[in-house]
Amino acid sequence: MMNAHITGTGSVLPKKKVTNFDLAERMDTNDEWIVSRTGIKERHIATTETTAGMAVEAAEKAMQEAGVQPEELELILVATVTADHIVPSTACEVQAALGAKNAAAMDLNAACSGFVFALNTAQAYVRAGIYKKLLIVGVETLSKVVDWSDRSTCILFGDGAGAAVLEAAEEGGIQDFVQYSDGGRGAALLCDARPVRNLFASQEYKQEYVKMDGQEVFRFAVKRVAESIDAILERNGLGTEQISLYVMHQANARIIQAVAKHLGESMEKFPMNLDHCGNTSGASVPLLLDELNRAGRLHRGDRLIFSGFGGGLTWGSIYMIW
Ligand code: UT7
Repeated sequence: MMNAHITGTGSVLPKKKVTNFDLAERMDTNDEWIVSRTGIKERHIATTETTAGMAVEAAEKAMQEAGVQPEELELILVATVTADHIVPSTACEVQAALGAKNAAAMDLNAACSGFVFALNTAQAYVRAGIYKKLLIVGVETLSKVVDWSDRSTCILFGDGAGAAVLEAAEEGGIQDFVQYSDGGRGAALLCDARPVRNLFASQEYKQEYVKMDGQEVFRFAVKRVAESIDAILERNGLGTEQISLYVMHQANARIIQAVAKHLGESMEKFPMNLDHCGNTSGASVPLLLDELNRAGRLHRGDRLIFSGFGGGLTWGSIYMIW
């Protein structure tokens, strides 16, 4: 049976680095609070970069590592909630920039679970025998939609992009996944799109930027991520001693520590890039994956668990052999 196997990764961060000290000059916050509550020390914020531009750069790096030519791609999936345009999709912009003229392209919105859901979608196409070469990207310019007057959220987020090329393979790759959503709890993390305002229905409307019930999302994340990892381990007859690394969405170091504790695992198996990237939503998993790959921390045959969680609410975990 064919599975989707990652053959190349790439990532990019905006040039502008913003430290906690930089933020403290502009709002009522401080480095000690941010580091102790979240693990974040700095994040990169777009000043000239765009969502599509970062996606293309990350994609080019991943394609280069994979040795895949643009015309070979059959599907481009971009996980993002911060596209530059409503139409065309970021994926279509990536397709155009790469010259991937034979690929179908579309965006996927599953917020911070976006890259994990995109991996799952890629796996479903590969298993079904429909596509053999796919590009997926997780990219966000959250700085566009963050409420910079709300210190409880704006200090959390950062911008960036990560990409992976996936190819159908008989050995390795995605072995299994679980993914879930709970739309009934969507209000815990929301951001408005354009309001209904037309010739027939004009009305006053206050547009909200990112709004989050931090503690509700925190509790949800710890409980559901732990459950989803338990489910994927049990279903595949795996013990934690067989897992090399857990590549988790980077929202908060305390969430990751709580999951590690639940599993009885050491923090060494939970690499983090929160300290220098902040929470980059759909970009966090592929950014971390690319860092690990480039640092030589991934070896053929390693058993990895990926987990994503966030807005929607959405969450899920993947069992992959590298
Ligand atoms: O990727 C999507 C998923 N998102 C998440 O996973 C986020 C999950 N939630 C969290 O990470 C945490 O809930 C936060 C980091 C957002 C907040 O941490 P917390 O420990 O839940 O803090 P809190 O909201 O209970 O706030 C504690 C105190 C409050 O002051 P009082 O009311 O106790 O006097 C806040 O006003 O900290 C205050 N506070 C701040 N102080 C300094 C809130 N933001 C700040 C700030 N600097 N930036």
